[in-house]
Amino acid sequence: MPGIVIVGAQWGDEGKGKATDLLGSRIDYVVKFNGGNNAGHTVVIGNEKYALHLLPSGILTEGVIPVIGNGVVVDLEVLFEEIDALEARGLDTSKLKISANAHVIASYHRTLDKVTERFLGKRQIGTTGRGIGPAYADKINRVGIRVQDLFDESILRQKVEGALFQKNSLLVKVYNRRAILVDEVVAELLSHTERLAPMVIDTALELGNAIDAGKNVLFEGGQATMLDVDHGTYPFVTSSSATAGGASTGSGVGPTKLTRIIGIAKAYITRVGAGPFPTELFDEWGDFLVENGHEFGTTTGRRRRPGWYDAPIARYASRINGLTDIVLTKLDVLTGIESIPVCVAYEVDGKRVDEVPVSQSDFHHATPVYEEFPGWTEDITGVRDFDDLPQNAQDYVLAIERLSGCRISAIGVGPAREAIIVRHDLID
Ligand code: GDP
Ligand code: IMO
Ligand code: MG
Repeated sequence: MPGIVIVGAQWGDEGKGKATDLLGSRIDYVVKFNGGNNAGHTVVIGNEKYALHLLPSGILTEGVIPVIGNGVVVDLEVLFEEIDALEARGLDTSKLKISANAHVIASYHRTLDKVTERFLGKRQIGTTGRGIGPAYADKINRVGIRVQDLFDESILRQKVEGALFQKNSLLVKVYNRRAILVDEVVAELLSHTERLAPMVIDTALELGNAIDAGKNVLFEGGQATMLDVDHGTYPFVTSSSATAGGASTGSGVGPTKLTRIIGIAKAYITRVGAGPFPTELFDEWGDFLVENGHEFGTTTGRRRRPGWYDAPIARYASRINGLTDIVLTKLDVLTGIESIPVCVAYEVDGKRVDEVPVSQSDFHHATPVYEEFPGWTEDITGVRDFDDLPQNAQDYVLAIERLSGCRISAIGVGPAREAIIVRHDLID
């Protein structure tokens, strides 16, 4: 009775959407448990390309019940825009369920996200500007608005008043902006309730029953280990629990029900936004990875910062998430590189450090210690069996497996749904 978790093992955009889609046909529920429309998952099915933000990638598979769990922050305007766009392309979104306990992103969260970033100046995080941080801050500060509040106008009004009380002082007195009107926010939120109502349920109960009944439930993480609010490169992180533990708290399904934890890692690394990144490349190899890997953000269109594979980060992700499997994606992007560097450790102040340093300052000026592996030139996008990969590609994967603290169960060799080599079944 598997509860299967998919998490990003690096700084995001590892191909989680594609991995979720891959498992889709054998899954009953796909649950998004953290983040919001800061995520961007591109899934390629035949000639069709889908860009998902708020909706779980399972929405693309017929028969799957997609669930937005309590750990997600929901921008209702974006929700209905995304639903309408998919429906217009002939997809059925009618099975979508949303947790009554999920928090809502309102317009003032988006405003605050942008204003705060601007005032941070050089210390900017480079957020997606979607209001994610301010919405989670309200949740932790106990002044958030939950989906269930939308169904009781007087409660909603009280909560919006509470939420805006401090914010308006801040906006007017510190940021020199106009105050936000309670009536406007209430009207904005209430405009969605009728359409929202049939989707809202106790998702924790539904999922608990599903697992007890032997259904397959897949938990799809947004963002990634190094962007996790506790375990990432704080403060250059997102504001949610993007690691495997978040699958439990963000869905209400207990940890003993989670049987497989799959980390998605690219055969190199990218990062969007600010923050430390030891293997970052500023040379033509960086351009090579960005061009061949099409490394531009699905959400903001920003050029992703490229770098070589970082094995200490993979070991860190294996440990923090308790990974049972790694899916290594985008191996095809490395085709044509004569000798491929892999970071095996760091040097900090002249000393070798084998693991991700706990001190953020150390991590900021850690320089990578590289081992090089011979590359290959053959096109590998059509390969479906590990043994058919060029010997050097096999050796590269096996070296990464040895260095990463977890077996590599599948290997992505192209953006298409079927462009994958499976070494170990990810469900049974
Ligand atoms: P996510 O946020 O983790 O779901 O990842 P994104 O969708 O933001 O970024 C991953 C990108 O890589 C998408 O454009 C995918 O279509 C693409 N992709 C996924 N797996 C592979 C692969 O094995 N090879 C190649 N070339 N592209 C891939
Ligand atoms: P997926 O799910 C890559 C980054 C932002 C910024 C930081 C905080 O597609 O892998 P936020 O708006 O969340 O407050 O921004 O986190 N970030 C991502 N980077 N992939 C993502 O999602 C991201 N979601 C947020 O760029 O540095
Ligand atoms: Mg993405």
